[in-house]
Amino acid sequence: MAIGNFSLLAAAARRLEGKVAVITGGASGIGESTARLFSKHGAKVVIADVQDDLAESVCRDLSPSSTSFVHCDVTKEEDVENVVQTATNKYGKLDIMFNNAGIAGMVKPNILDNDKIEFEQVIRVNLVGAFLGIKHAARVMIPVGKGSIINTASACSPIGGCAPHAYTSSKHGLVGLVRNTAVELGQHGIRVNCVSPYIVSTPLVKEFFKLDDDKLHGVYSNLKGGVLKAEDIAKAALYLGSDESKYVSGHNLLVDGGFTIVNAGFCMFEQA
Ligand SMILES: NC(=O)c1ccc[n+]([C@@H]2O[C@H](COP(=O)([O-])OP(=O)(O)OC[C@H]3O[C@@H](n4cnc5c(N)ncnc54)[C@H](O)[C@@H]3O)[C@@H](O)[C@H]2O)c1
Repeated sequence: MAIGNFSLLAAAARRLEGKVAVITGGASGIGESTARLFSKHGAKVVIADVQDDLAESVCRDLSPSSTSFVHCDVTKEEDVENVVQTATNKYGKLDIMFNNAGIAGMVKPNILDNDKIEFEQVIRVNLVGAFLGIKHAARVMIPVGKGSIINTASACSPIGGCAPHAYTSSKHGLVGLVRNTAVELGQHGIRVNCVSPYIVSTPLVKEFFKLDDDKLHGVYSNLKGGVLKAEDIAKAALYLGSDESKYVSGHNLLVDGGFTIVNAGFCMFEQA
């Protein structure tokens, strides 16, 4: 009896047992944290990234039999197609596609300073990259009639003024793409969702704000008493990737402590 209870508990603790996931941008930050958590929960994980050494060291750290790395620039269709094909060839299927790779772009708040080429590069990685990920995941998920596609948007996806024009545009566009594809792919049993983080201390954010961890932790938060970490976003992705979210689709899961539902400049409650 005790053994039976133990194995039930073990199964419950491994929420992605038997599933296969591709994680773009899995070498660093939120993607790396998600690769670690998915792996802990029993998933076979394929990391797709342009940082080969970093990605390979994450794979070495996790079990080599259940984690692999495929070099993939998400702006190149042949790379995205290849990573999906490699995952299905190696592990037999694809259950979860996490389109998470992203860049912040240049810190140029004034539109007159924004170059077209820089704007397009952010759109290419953050939006076109996710489009390619959704497309090629759908190609292998449609025949089996199931799958979960998760995309990292941002707390700036429902509002303006929090990030440069290109980044904000890319994340607003991503939510639109998620909603449209959730409608189309819902006909095939495939769920498509976003996870939208507020500020998490990762290389992307540190480079963008030129702030260290201490300063980042001091940035305004609507929710006091805790610091948002990459693991918290990984847990949201775990929920969206697992069968616990089986009827959740077209959703933008904001992990922002309520940041986007308050107007801090016009609020009847005292703001710190
Ligand atoms: N950190 C935050 O506060 C925050 C907030 C909101 C949204 N996000 C989003 O989270 C996602 C992950 O960012 P992060 O903060 O973990 O940053 P990060 O820099 O730690 O990780 C991003 C990863 O994406 C990879 N990448 C970049 N361009 C790529 C390309 N063309 N092809 C493949 N991989 C590429 C990088 O090599 C890196 O490993 C991004 O989409 C970002 O926009 C982050």
